[in-house]
Amino acid sequence: MKKVLVIGGGGREHAIVDALSRSAKVGKIWCAPGNAGIAAQAECVPLKETQVEELKAFALENGVDLTVVGPEVALAAGVADAFAEAGLRIFGPSKDAAAIESSKDFAKRLMAKYGIPTASFETFDDYEKALGHVRSGSLPVVLKYDGLAAGKGVVIPETMEEAEEALKDMLLDDKFGKGKVVVEEFLTGPEFSFMCFVDGASVTPMALSQDHKRAYEGDKGPNTGGMGAYSPVPIITQEDIDYSLEHVMIPAAAAMIAEGRPFKGVLYGGLMKTPSGVKVIEFNCRFGDPETEVVLPRLESDIYDIFSAVADGTPMPEVKWSEEVTMGFVMASKGYPGSYDKGYVIEGLADALADPSVRIYHMGTSAKDGNAVTSGGRVLMVVGSGKTLARAHDIALAAVEKVKCGNLFYRRDIGWRVL
Ligand code: AMP
Ligand code: GLY
Repeated sequence: MKKVLVIGGGGREHAIVDALSRSAKVGKIWCAPGNAGIAAQAECVPLKETQVEELKAFALENGVDLTVVGPEVALAAGVADAFAEAGLRIFGPSKDAAAIESSKDFAKRLMAKYGIPTASFETFDDYEKALGHVRSGSLPVVLKYDGLAAGKGVVIPETMEEAEEALKDMLLDDKFGKGKVVVEEFLTGPEFSFMCFVDGASVTPMALSQDHKRAYEGDKGPNTGGMGAYSPVPIITQEDIDYSLEHVMIPAAAAMIAEGRPFKGVLYGGLMKTPSGVKVIEFNCRFGDPETEVVLPRLESDIYDIFSAVADGTPMPEVKWSEEVTMGFVMASKGYPGSYDKGYVIEGLADALADPSVRIYHMGTSAKDGNAVTSGGRVLMVVGSGKTLARAHDIALAAVEKVKCGNLFYRRDIGWRVL
Protein backbone atom coordinates (compact mmCIF):
# COMPACT_ATOMS: atom_id res chain seq x y z
CA MET A 1 0.00 0.00 0.00
CA LYS A 2 1.22 3.49 -0.89
CA LYS A 3 2.20 6.27 1.50
CA VAL A 4 1.11 9.76 0.52
CA LEU A 5 1.94 13.21 1.89
CA VAL A 6 -0.49 16.07 1.24
CA ILE A 7 0.89 19.59 1.71
CA GLY A 8 -1.54 22.22 3.03
CA GLY A 9 -4.13 22.59 5.75
CA GLY A 10 -7.41 23.87 4.34
CA GLY A 11 -10.69 22.62 2.88
CA ARG A 12 -9.04 21.84 -0.43
CA GLU A 13 -6.48 19.59 1.26
CA HIS A 14 -9.23 17.96 3.33
CA ALA A 15 -11.06 17.10 0.09
CA ILE A 16 -7.81 15.77 -1.43
CA VAL A 17 -7.18 13.63 1.68
CA ASP A 18 -10.79 12.41 1.52
CA ALA A 19 -10.38 11.42 -2.16
CA LEU A 20 -7.07 9.67 -1.41
CA SER A 21 -8.67 7.77 1.45
CA ARG A 22 -11.13 6.28 -1.08
CA SER A 23 -8.20 4.96 -3.15
CA ALA A 24 -7.66 1.20 -3.14
CA LYS A 25 -3.90 1.79 -3.42
CA VAL A 26 -3.30 4.21 -0.56
CA GLY A 27 -2.53 2.84 2.90
CA LYS A 28 -1.13 5.83 4.77
CA ILE A 29 -1.80 9.55 4.47
CA TRP A 30 0.09 12.38 6.17
CA CYS A 31 -0.96 16.00 5.88
CA ALA A 32 1.31 18.97 6.65
CA PRO A 33 0.14 20.91 8.53
CA GLY A 34 -3.44 19.59 8.21
CA ASN A 35 -6.20 20.74 10.57
CA ALA A 36 -8.68 19.39 13.14
CA GLY A 37 -10.94 17.84 10.48
CA ILE A 38 -8.16 16.37 8.38
CA ALA A 39 -6.80 14.71 11.54
CA ALA A 40 -9.71 12.24 11.39
CA GLN A 41 -8.51 10.94 8.01
CA ALA A 42 -4.75 11.56 7.99
CA GLU A 43 -1.86 11.94 10.39
CA CYS A 44 -1.11 15.64 10.69
CA VAL A 45 2.53 16.72 10.59
CA PRO A 46 3.42 20.04 12.25
CA LEU A 47 5.26 21.51 9.27
CA LYS A 48 4.22 24.66 7.42
CA GLU A 49 3.50 24.44 3.72
CA THR A 50 6.51 26.65 2.90
CA GLN A 51 9.07 24.66 4.94
CA VAL A 52 10.38 23.06 1.77
CA GLU A 53 13.57 21.53 3.20
CA GLU A 54 11.79 20.08 6.25
CA LEU A 55 9.00 18.65 4.08
CA LYS A 56 11.55 17.06 1.78
CA ALA A 57 13.43 15.56 4.75
CA PHE A 58 10.12 14.20 6.12
CA ALA A 59 9.27 12.57 2.78
CA LEU A 60 12.72 10.98 2.52
CA GLU A 61 12.76 9.71 6.10
CA ASN A 62 9.26 8.25 5.96
CA GLY A 63 9.44 6.61 2.54
CA VAL A 64 6.65 8.74 1.10
CA ASP A 65 5.66 7.33 -2.32
CA LEU A 66 3.90 10.44 -3.57
CA THR A 67 3.44 14.04 -2.40
CA VAL A 68 0.45 16.17 -3.45
CA VAL A 69 0.68 19.94 -3.14
CA GLY A 70 -2.39 22.05 -2.35
CA PRO A 71 -1.40 25.71 -1.91
CA GLU A 72 0.19 28.06 -4.42
CA VAL A 73 2.62 29.46 -1.81
CA ALA A 74 4.32 26.06 -1.53
CA LEU A 75 4.59 25.81 -5.33
CA ALA A 76 5.84 29.37 -5.66
CA ALA A 77 8.42 28.48 -2.99
CA GLY A 78 9.74 25.73 -5.28
CA VAL A 79 8.55 22.64 -3.41
CA ALA A 80 8.03 20.64 -6.61
CA ASP A 81 11.55 21.48 -7.85
CA ALA A 82 13.15 20.52 -4.53
CA PHE A 83 11.29 17.19 -4.37
CA ALA A 84 12.04 16.33 -7.99
CA GLU A 85 15.75 17.04 -7.46
CA ALA A 86 15.71 14.65 -4.51
CA GLY A 87 14.12 11.95 -6.68
CA LEU A 88 10.78 12.21 -4.87
CA ARG A 89 7.51 11.81 -6.78
CA ILE A 90 5.36 14.92 -6.51
CA PHE A 91 2.10 16.20 -7.97
CA GLY A 92 2.36 19.94 -8.60
CA PRO A 93 4.08 22.33 -11.01
CA SER A 94 7.64 23.68 -10.79
CA LYS A 95 8.24 27.20 -9.51
CA ASP A 96 8.70 28.43 -13.11
CA ALA A 97 5.39 26.89 -14.18
CA ALA A 98 3.62 28.23 -11.08
CA ALA A 99 4.31 31.73 -12.43
CA ILE A 100 1.09 31.32 -14.43
CA GLU A 101 -0.59 32.15 -11.11
CA SER A 102 2.08 33.90 -9.05
CA SER A 103 2.66 36.59 -11.70
CA LYS A 104 -0.44 38.13 -13.29
CA ASP A 105 1.88 39.97 -15.66
CA PHE A 106 3.48 36.71 -16.86
CA ALA A 107 0.04 35.13 -17.33
CA LYS A 108 -1.30 38.11 -19.27
CA ARG A 109 1.75 38.28 -21.54
CA LEU A 110 1.52 34.53 -22.16
CA MET A 111 -2.12 34.86 -23.19
CA ALA A 112 -1.36 37.82 -25.47
CA LYS A 113 1.56 36.01 -27.11
CA TYR A 114 -0.34 32.76 -27.76
CA GLY A 115 -3.74 34.26 -28.63
CA ILE A 116 -5.62 32.95 -25.59
CA PRO A 117 -8.78 35.05 -25.13
CA THR A 118 -8.63 37.41 -22.13
CA ALA A 119 -9.39 41.01 -21.16
CA SER A 120 -7.13 43.64 -22.76
CA PHE A 121 -4.57 45.03 -20.33
CA GLU A 122 -1.50 47.13 -19.61
CA THR A 123 1.11 46.64 -16.89
CA PHE A 124 2.64 49.42 -14.77
CA ASP A 125 5.28 49.72 -12.10
CA ASP A 126 5.06 53.51 -11.91
CA TYR A 127 2.25 55.03 -9.84
CA GLU A 128 1.89 58.26 -11.85
CA LYS A 129 1.79 56.41 -15.18
CA ALA A 130 -0.75 53.90 -13.88
CA LEU A 131 -2.96 56.67 -12.51
CA GLY A 132 -2.69 58.66 -15.76
CA HIS A 133 -3.73 55.57 -17.71
CA VAL A 134 -6.76 54.90 -15.48
CA ARG A 135 -7.80 58.59 -15.52
CA SER A 136 -7.65 58.71 -19.33
CA GLY A 137 -10.08 55.78 -19.58
CA SER A 138 -13.50 55.12 -18.12
CA LEU A 139 -14.74 53.09 -15.14
CA PRO A 140 -15.24 50.31 -14.30
CA VAL A 141 -11.72 49.08 -14.75
CA VAL A 142 -9.91 46.21 -12.99
CA LEU A 143 -6.69 46.70 -11.00
CA LYS A 144 -4.67 43.58 -10.26
CA TYR A 145 -1.61 43.44 -8.07
CA ASP A 146 1.12 41.42 -9.82
CA GLY A 147 1.89 38.83 -7.14
CA LEU A 148 0.23 36.53 -4.65
CA ALA A 149 -2.18 38.47 -2.46
CA ALA A 150 -4.50 35.71 -1.17
CA GLY A 151 -7.42 36.77 -3.37
CA LYS A 152 -7.25 40.35 -2.12
CA GLY A 153 -5.07 41.77 -4.88
CA VAL A 154 -7.94 42.60 -7.24
CA VAL A 155 -9.81 45.89 -6.98
CA ILE A 156 -12.67 47.09 -9.19
CA PRO A 157 -12.97 50.73 -8.13
CA GLU A 158 -16.30 52.53 -8.45
CA THR A 159 -14.82 56.03 -8.34
CA MET A 160 -11.54 57.63 -9.44
CA GLU A 161 -10.77 58.31 -5.76
CA GLU A 162 -11.03 54.58 -5.03
CA ALA A 163 -8.81 53.83 -8.03
CA GLU A 164 -6.21 56.28 -6.77
CA GLU A 165 -6.35 54.76 -3.29
CA ALA A 166 -5.90 51.20 -4.63
CA LEU A 167 -2.99 52.16 -6.90
CA LYS A 168 -1.36 53.90 -3.94
CA ASP A 169 -1.67 50.72 -1.84
CA MET A 170 -0.23 48.58 -4.61
CA LEU A 171 2.52 50.82 -6.04
CA LEU A 172 3.46 53.52 -3.52
CA ASP A 173 2.90 51.92 -0.11
CA ASP A 174 3.75 48.36 -1.24
CA LYS A 175 0.90 47.06 0.90
CA PHE A 176 1.25 43.56 -0.60
CA GLY A 177 5.00 43.82 -1.27
CA LYS A 178 6.99 45.36 -4.08
CA GLY A 179 5.21 44.68 -7.33
CA LYS A 180 3.57 45.77 -10.54
CA VAL A 181 -0.08 46.42 -11.36
CA VAL A 182 -2.03 45.06 -14.29
CA VAL A 183 -4.81 47.43 -15.40
CA GLU A 184 -7.45 45.41 -17.17
CA GLU A 185 -10.62 45.84 -19.23
CA PHE A 186 -13.79 45.08 -17.19
CA LEU A 187 -15.64 42.04 -18.53
CA THR A 188 -19.18 40.83 -17.74
CA GLY A 189 -20.86 37.43 -17.68
CA PRO A 190 -21.09 34.33 -15.50
CA GLU A 191 -17.78 32.96 -14.20
CA PHE A 192 -16.87 29.30 -13.93
CA SER A 193 -13.90 27.29 -12.75
CA PHE A 194 -12.44 24.85 -15.24
CA MET A 195 -9.77 22.71 -13.58
CA CYS A 196 -7.74 20.27 -15.67
CA PHE A 197 -5.13 17.66 -14.86
CA VAL A 198 -2.18 18.73 -17.01
CA ASP A 199 0.98 16.83 -17.77
CA GLY A 200 2.95 18.76 -20.37
CA ALA A 201 0.74 18.70 -23.47
CA SER A 202 -1.80 16.26 -22.02
CA VAL A 203 -4.91 18.02 -20.68
CA THR A 204 -7.69 16.10 -18.91
CA PRO A 205 -10.73 18.13 -17.83
CA MET A 206 -12.42 17.85 -14.46
CA ALA A 207 -16.10 18.45 -13.84
CA LEU A 208 -16.96 22.15 -13.93
CA SER A 209 -17.73 24.18 -10.85
CA GLN A 210 -18.71 27.69 -9.93
CA ASP A 211 -17.41 29.68 -6.98
CA HIS A 212 -19.05 32.68 -5.23
CA LYS A 213 -16.32 35.26 -4.68
CA ARG A 214 -18.19 38.02 -2.86
CA ALA A 215 -18.61 37.88 0.90
CA TYR A 216 -22.35 38.58 1.16
CA GLU A 217 -25.65 37.47 -0.35
CA GLY A 218 -26.63 38.99 -3.68
CA ASP A 219 -22.93 38.96 -4.67
CA LYS A 220 -22.30 42.05 -2.53
CA GLY A 221 -19.38 43.01 -0.32
CA PRO A 222 -15.65 42.46 -0.69
CA ASN A 223 -13.97 39.72 -2.73
CA THR A 224 -13.03 36.62 -0.76
CA GLY A 225 -11.27 33.36 -1.49
CA GLY A 226 -14.77 31.95 -2.19
CA MET A 227 -17.94 31.56 -0.12
CA GLY A 228 -19.49 28.50 -1.73
CA ALA A 229 -19.51 26.41 -4.87
CA TYR A 230 -21.37 23.79 -6.85
CA SER A 231 -20.71 21.27 -9.58
CA PRO A 232 -21.62 20.94 -12.44
CA VAL A 233 -22.60 24.36 -13.87
CA PRO A 234 -25.72 23.96 -16.04
CA ILE A 235 -25.56 27.50 -17.50
CA ILE A 236 -22.28 26.55 -19.17
CA THR A 237 -22.99 24.35 -22.21
CA GLN A 238 -20.95 21.44 -23.55
CA GLU A 239 -20.11 23.74 -26.48
CA ASP A 240 -18.64 26.28 -24.02
CA ILE A 241 -16.62 23.52 -22.36
CA ASP A 242 -15.29 22.26 -25.71
CA TYR A 243 -14.40 25.81 -26.71
CA SER A 244 -12.63 26.42 -23.40
CA LEU A 245 -10.64 23.23 -23.74
CA GLU A 246 -9.66 23.89 -27.34
CA HIS A 247 -9.02 27.64 -27.16
CA VAL A 248 -7.85 28.12 -23.59
CA MET A 249 -6.63 25.08 -21.66
CA ILE A 250 -4.86 23.09 -24.41
CA PRO A 251 -3.18 26.21 -25.87
CA ALA A 252 -2.11 27.30 -22.37
CA ALA A 253 -0.46 23.92 -21.72
CA ALA A 254 1.26 24.11 -25.13
CA ALA A 255 2.35 27.71 -24.46
CA MET A 256 3.98 26.67 -21.20
CA ILE A 257 6.00 24.01 -23.04
CA ALA A 258 7.01 26.55 -25.70
CA GLU A 259 8.16 28.91 -22.93
CA GLY A 260 10.33 26.15 -21.42
CA ARG A 261 8.05 25.86 -18.37
CA PRO A 262 6.10 22.62 -18.95
CA PHE A 263 3.17 22.44 -16.55
CA LYS A 264 2.48 19.37 -14.39
CA GLY A 265 -0.41 19.46 -11.95
CA VAL A 266 -3.78 21.15 -11.88
CA LEU A 267 -4.20 24.06 -14.24
CA TYR A 268 -7.19 26.06 -13.08
CA GLY A 269 -8.91 28.31 -15.61
CA GLY A 270 -10.99 31.01 -13.96
CA LEU A 271 -13.16 31.71 -17.00
CA MET A 272 -15.99 34.07 -17.85
CA LYS A 273 -18.69 33.56 -20.48
CA THR A 274 -18.81 37.10 -21.89
CA PRO A 275 -21.13 38.33 -24.67
CA SER A 276 -18.12 37.97 -27.01
CA GLY A 277 -17.16 34.44 -25.95
CA VAL A 278 -15.35 32.67 -23.13
CA LYS A 279 -12.37 34.63 -21.76
CA VAL A 280 -9.77 34.01 -19.07
CA ILE A 281 -10.08 36.01 -15.85
CA GLU A 282 -7.13 34.24 -14.24
CA PHE A 283 -5.12 31.05 -14.24
CA ASN A 284 -4.21 29.25 -11.03
CA CYS A 285 -1.50 26.62 -10.74
CA ARG A 286 -3.40 24.35 -8.30
CA PHE A 287 -6.79 23.04 -7.23
CA GLY A 288 -9.32 25.80 -6.40
CA ASP A 289 -10.66 26.28 -2.92
CA PRO A 290 -13.65 25.80 -2.35
CA GLU A 291 -14.16 24.30 -5.84
CA THR A 292 -12.17 21.16 -5.01
CA GLU A 293 -14.57 20.37 -2.15
CA VAL A 294 -17.47 20.05 -4.62
CA VAL A 295 -15.55 18.54 -7.54
CA LEU A 296 -13.51 15.73 -5.96
CA PRO A 297 -16.49 14.11 -4.19
CA ARG A 298 -17.85 13.51 -7.72
CA LEU A 299 -14.67 11.73 -8.88
CA GLU A 300 -15.25 8.01 -9.39
CA SER A 301 -11.76 7.09 -10.61
CA ASP A 302 -8.87 6.33 -8.26
CA ILE A 303 -7.16 9.67 -7.60
CA TYR A 304 -3.85 8.00 -6.73
CA ASP A 305 -3.64 6.71 -10.32
CA ILE A 306 -4.35 10.19 -11.69
CA PHE A 307 -1.75 11.88 -9.49
CA SER A 308 0.77 9.15 -10.34
CA ALA A 309 0.25 9.52 -14.09
CA VAL A 310 1.05 13.23 -13.86
CA ALA A 311 3.95 12.78 -11.45
CA ASP A 312 5.51 10.05 -13.62
CA GLY A 313 4.61 11.43 -17.04
CA THR A 314 2.75 8.23 -17.95
CA PRO A 315 -0.60 8.08 -19.83
CA MET A 316 -3.62 9.41 -17.93
CA PRO A 317 -6.13 6.75 -16.88
CA GLU A 318 -9.80 7.26 -17.66
CA VAL A 319 -11.26 9.95 -15.38
CA LYS A 320 -14.93 9.35 -14.53
CA TRP A 321 -17.44 11.62 -12.78
CA SER A 322 -20.54 10.73 -10.84
CA GLU A 323 -24.03 11.84 -11.90
CA GLU A 324 -24.62 12.95 -8.29
CA VAL A 325 -24.22 16.73 -8.12
CA THR A 326 -22.80 18.76 -5.25
CA MET A 327 -23.23 22.14 -3.61
CA GLY A 328 -21.32 23.53 -0.66
CA PHE A 329 -21.59 26.46 1.75
CA VAL A 330 -18.56 28.10 3.32
CA MET A 331 -18.93 29.06 6.97
CA ALA A 332 -16.53 31.93 7.66
CA SER A 333 -15.44 33.88 10.73
CA LYS A 334 -17.36 37.14 11.25
CA GLY A 335 -15.21 39.93 9.84
CA TYR A 336 -13.64 37.82 7.06
CA PRO A 337 -12.12 38.78 4.59
CA GLY A 338 -11.04 41.53 6.99
CA SER A 339 -9.78 40.84 10.49
CA TYR A 340 -11.55 38.29 12.70
CA ASP A 341 -11.24 36.54 16.06
CA LYS A 342 -10.26 32.89 16.44
CA GLY A 343 -10.73 30.13 19.00
CA TYR A 344 -14.54 29.73 18.98
CA VAL A 345 -15.74 26.22 19.73
CA ILE A 346 -17.65 24.51 16.90
CA GLU A 347 -20.46 22.15 17.88
CA GLY A 348 -23.05 20.10 16.03
CA LEU A 349 -20.69 18.62 13.45
CA ALA A 350 -21.68 15.02 14.20
CA ASP A 351 -25.35 15.98 14.01
CA ALA A 352 -24.82 17.67 10.63
CA LEU A 353 -22.88 14.64 9.37
CA ALA A 354 -25.67 12.21 10.34
CA ASP A 355 -27.03 12.61 6.80
CA PRO A 356 -24.82 10.40 4.58
CA SER A 357 -25.25 12.90 1.72
CA VAL A 358 -23.33 15.51 3.73
CA ARG A 359 -19.57 16.03 3.81
CA ILE A 360 -17.87 18.65 5.94
CA TYR A 361 -14.43 19.80 4.93
CA HIS A 362 -12.47 21.80 7.48
CA MET A 363 -10.91 24.96 6.04
CA GLY A 364 -9.61 26.70 9.15
CA THR A 365 -9.97 24.73 12.38
CA SER A 366 -7.65 23.46 15.07
CA ALA A 367 -8.14 21.00 17.89
CA LYS A 368 -8.45 22.25 21.48
CA ASP A 369 -9.47 20.13 24.49
CA GLY A 370 -11.11 17.56 22.23
CA ASN A 371 -13.12 20.17 20.31
CA ALA A 372 -12.69 21.78 16.91
CA VAL A 373 -12.21 25.53 17.26
CA THR A 374 -12.13 28.23 14.60
CA SER A 375 -8.63 29.17 13.46
CA GLY A 376 -9.01 30.82 10.07
CA GLY A 377 -11.07 33.23 7.98
CA ARG A 378 -12.88 30.48 6.14
CA VAL A 379 -13.64 27.75 8.67
CA LEU A 380 -15.84 25.00 7.16
CA MET A 381 -17.15 23.96 3.76
CA VAL A 382 -20.40 22.03 4.18
CA VAL A 383 -21.22 20.02 1.05
CA GLY A 384 -24.46 18.27 0.13
CA SER A 385 -24.87 15.86 -2.75
CA GLY A 386 -28.01 14.75 -4.52
CA LYS A 387 -29.71 14.07 -7.83
CA THR A 388 -30.26 17.80 -8.53
CA LEU A 389 -28.56 21.02 -7.49
CA ALA A 390 -31.77 22.09 -5.71
CA ARG A 391 -31.63 18.91 -3.64
CA ALA A 392 -27.90 19.29 -2.93
CA HIS A 393 -28.58 22.89 -1.85
CA ASP A 394 -31.30 21.87 0.60
CA ILE A 395 -29.19 19.05 2.06
CA ALA A 396 -26.16 21.30 2.54
CA LEU A 397 -28.20 24.15 4.01
CA ALA A 398 -29.94 21.85 6.49
CA ALA A 399 -26.50 20.63 7.60
CA VAL A 400 -25.12 24.17 7.90
CA GLU A 401 -27.99 25.05 10.21
CA LYS A 402 -26.98 22.23 12.55
CA VAL A 403 -23.48 23.60 13.03
CA LYS A 404 -23.35 25.72 16.19
CA CYS A 405 -20.66 28.33 16.67
CA GLY A 406 -20.77 31.87 18.04
CA ASN A 407 -18.66 33.51 15.37
CA LEU A 408 -19.55 32.19 11.90
CA PHE A 409 -21.52 33.59 8.97
CA TYR A 410 -22.46 32.14 5.59
CA ARG A 411 -24.33 32.99 2.40
CA ARG A 412 -27.68 31.26 2.01
CA ASP A 413 -27.89 32.06 -1.72
CA ILE A 414 -25.18 29.72 -3.04
CA GLY A 415 -26.30 28.55 -6.48
CA TRP A 416 -28.75 31.42 -7.06
CA ARG A 417 -27.81 31.57 -10.74
CA VAL A 418 -29.06 28.06 -11.38
CA LEU A 419 -31.78 27.41 -8.79
P1 AMP B 1 -8.96 37.15 -9.91
O1 AMP B 1 -8.20 37.11 -8.62
O2 AMP B 1 -8.15 37.57 -11.08
O3 AMP B 1 -9.76 35.91 -10.14
O4 AMP B 1 -10.09 38.25 -9.69
C1 AMP B 1 -11.02 38.15 -8.64
C2 AMP B 1 -12.39 38.45 -9.15
O5 AMP B 1 -12.45 39.78 -9.68
C3 AMP B 1 -12.83 37.55 -10.28
O6 AMP B 1 -13.36 36.35 -9.85
C4 AMP B 1 -13.87 38.43 -10.98
O7 AMP B 1 -15.11 38.32 -10.31
C5 AMP B 1 -13.31 39.80 -10.79
N1 AMP B 1 -12.57 40.17 -12.02
C6 AMP B 1 -11.27 39.94 -12.25
N2 AMP B 1 -10.92 40.38 -13.47
C7 AMP B 1 -12.02 40.87 -14.04
C8 AMP B 1 -12.31 41.48 -15.30
N3 AMP B 1 -11.37 41.67 -16.23
N4 AMP B 1 -13.58 41.89 -15.53
C9 AMP B 1 -14.53 41.72 -14.58
N5 AMP B 1 -14.34 41.17 -13.38
C10 AMP B 1 -13.08 40.75 -13.11
N1 GLY C 1 -11.81 29.79 -5.33
C1 GLY C 1 -10.86 30.50 -6.11
C2 GLY C 1 -9.49 30.01 -6.02
O1 GLY C 1 -9.21 28.93 -5.53
O2 GLY C 1 -8.61 30.74 -6.45
